[in-house]
Amino acid sequence: MASLDRFRIVGGTQLRGEVVISGAKNSVLKLMAASLLAAGKTTITNVPDIADVDIMADLLTRLGCTVVRTTSAVSIDVPQVPHHRADYDLVRKMRASINVLGPLVARVGEAEVALPGGDAIGSRGLDFHIKGLEALGATAHIEHGYVVAQASQGLVGALVDLDFPSVGATENIMTAAVLAKGVTTIDNAAREPDLVDLGEFLISMGAKIAGLGTPTITITGVAKLAPTTHATIPDRIITGTWAFAAAMTRGDITIHGARAQHLELPLEKLASAGAIITSTADGVRVRMDQRPQAIDVATLPYPGFPTDLLPMVIALNSIADGHSLVTENVFESRFMFVNELSRLGAQISVDGHHASIEGVPELSGAPVEAHDIRAGAGLILAALVSEGETTVDQAFHVDRGYPNFAEQLQSLGANVTRE
Ligand code: UD1
Repeated sequence: MASLDRFRIVGGTQLRGEVVISGAKNSVLKLMAASLLAAGKTTITNVPDIADVDIMADLLTRLGCTVVRTTSAVSIDVPQVPHHRADYDLVRKMRASINVLGPLVARVGEAEVALPGGDAIGSRGLDFHIKGLEALGATAHIEHGYVVAQASQGLVGALVDLDFPSVGATENIMTAAVLAKGVTTIDNAAREPDLVDLGEFLISMGAKIAGLGTPTITITGVAKLAPTTHATIPDRIITGTWAFAAAMTRGDITIHGARAQHLELPLEKLASAGAIITSTADGVRVRMDQRPQAIDVATLPYPGFPTDLLPMVIALNSIADGHSLVTENVFESRFMFVNELSRLGAQISVDGHHASIEGVPELSGAPVEAHDIRAGAGLILAALVSEGETTVDQAFHVDRGYPNFAEQLQSLGANVTRE
């Protein structure tokens, strides 16, 4: 019932107070999938309270694991031989399901994983994943809506040169290569903090990996991995969302548990918009006492500006002083949300992967709809600086990425209800 599933926001309050950052969605789901690499019980802590964790738990259960979730941890007991087929009914709900591909090929010698669904932010190919597994000696192709991969003789280390530093492809190749014979080198690898977290998780299982966080990752295969216990890194996109919320509402938010080093560019951009950013003992504080200055941003793979914060940048620029140009280089359909933002009175024109934004002093509340997690969060930030009431429908998208978002917004003084 989309019409009942919404945030209702009355704009005009400055967000002030403190929030605590939970574990990263983009990390925990990958860690859970990688637990398949070792028989026995792996425990992951600092697990965020989001629905995608339950979906991944269901998928792992379907693959033969016993999964127990407590408030902020999940334990996964992996059998000696997991099942190798990940069905469409679960995979379609979440893009990160594709991360079982590498571990299954490596452990079981075969995998059939339905082509994933996920957010409506543009086409998300799998050709790099497939080419990478083929380089390691697997056969892999797409058949009847499934990626079918086989390596009955085991995988063999190789050089994999990625055309683009895809996060998902780097993850699948790395989680396959850890059990391959010999050395694998991934060139033009992704450098995202979530990927480094996954690499460190694998190292704690006994994997041999060098070069995490650099464009060249070297993996020396081992015969067997052991289960582990690992804490998920804090969510940098939620951190960034609060930082933008503080700046847009001319508020003052102390973000506990944030790692500012994972957000260097977004925080620099916010400083150039006029925000005052200071490090605290366990995080970062973001204050703003003026109308934001418009900022030009182009998204790029890490350490570039994260595509997941693009809606927040556009929302900020829509009420900023001046004109800005925002360029999306990762996902072509991110700008779908611009139509919704325009309903609040934002002045934006889109040409290809560029958005040209003329800041207005104030937006005005209206009914809008979230098409994906981050677009939903961007619309909520815009609603906070809109005169009157805004409803953001399809709120379940936002719940997928932001645990207890409405409660946290309320604790900062926002007039928000979740219906
Ligand atoms: C992406 C983001 C990641 C973010 C995540 C969740 C980047 C580089 N990646 O990761 O930071 O946390 O979404 O929103 O910003 N591609 C192909 N073929 C492939 C794989 C990817 O063409 O085999 C293309 C995609 O269509 C896309 C780009 O490469 O245009 C980035 O893909 P990738 O990094 O793999 O996406 P995610 O892993 O989902």
